[in-house]
Amino acid sequence: MKIPKTAPLIVLTGAGISAGSGLATFRGSGGLWAGYDINEVATPEGFQRDPELVHDFYNMRRHESAAALPNAAHRALAALEDAWEGPFLLVTQNVDDLHEKAGSRRLIHMHGRLNSVLCTACGKRSEWHEDTGSQIPCPHCGQPALRPDIVWFGEMPYHMEEIGAALENAGLFLSIGTSGTVYPAAGFVAYAKEQGAETVEINLENTHNPLFDRHVSGDAAATLPAFVESLLRSRSGNGSSI
Ligand code: APR
Repeated sequence: MKIPKTAPLIVLTGAGISAGSGLATFRGSGGLWAGYDINEVATPEGFQRDPELVHDFYNMRRHESAAALPNAAHRALAALEDAWEGPFLLVTQNVDDLHEKAGSRRLIHMHGRLNSVLCTACGKRSEWHEDTGSQIPCPHCGQPALRPDIVWFGEMPYHMEEIGAALENAGLFLSIGTSGTVYPAAGFVAYAKEQGAETVEINLENTHNPLFDRHVSGDAAATLPAFVESLLRSRSGNGSSI
């Protein structure tokens, strides 16, 4: 299928793109959910029950994310954003800042960010790179009511309207390093396909989701730069063929 070189390009990333930078994924061997109970560290109820346990979980992940460097897959997406002539949007489920470190700008964190805290008293957000805790005062209202600015299970992901509008016009939809098991992100490919987009999955293993027109299997740090190169190189006057 020819992709017009000005076609809107929407990219969805998951934990797999950061695996090459040493950050754990959630599922599969060695995944975070093998060592932690989702209900205890990734739900509002868990935070209610034991806020310090939840602060510690995200403090550990914030330290690991701060020490991590973007890999060739993150850099390939930043280069794709710079070179793409049509509308471009990168939607990440990841809460690390590796896309930013690689230079991505048109970026949405639909599940929140480790480097942000949300005050449950005044509702304001603050950029945050230190440890969080339940006794730390909010920089805006002074109340000790901070929580990680992370979307937990049972909560509504951020920027869904903007994401829906982008998917509506997508010409090409790339899904990179995500198991496609958590909604609403897992439903993006179906919506993009319904709107006529070409859909490509780039993942360590083929998830055999029939909604993808193409599967590129292997480590994204190895496969994505080559894929981006072929996408940009093969653009002709009337578009890229992938
Ligand atoms: N290159 C490409 N893909 C990889 C790599 C790699 N080096 N390593 C792992 N993967 C793939 C795995 O095959 C898997 O399909 O990345 C995917 C990771 O899946 P998950 O661990 O489920 O992570 P993700 O899809 O991002 O989870 C979605 O679930 O728990 C919630 O909020 C959390 O945002 C997260 C959401």
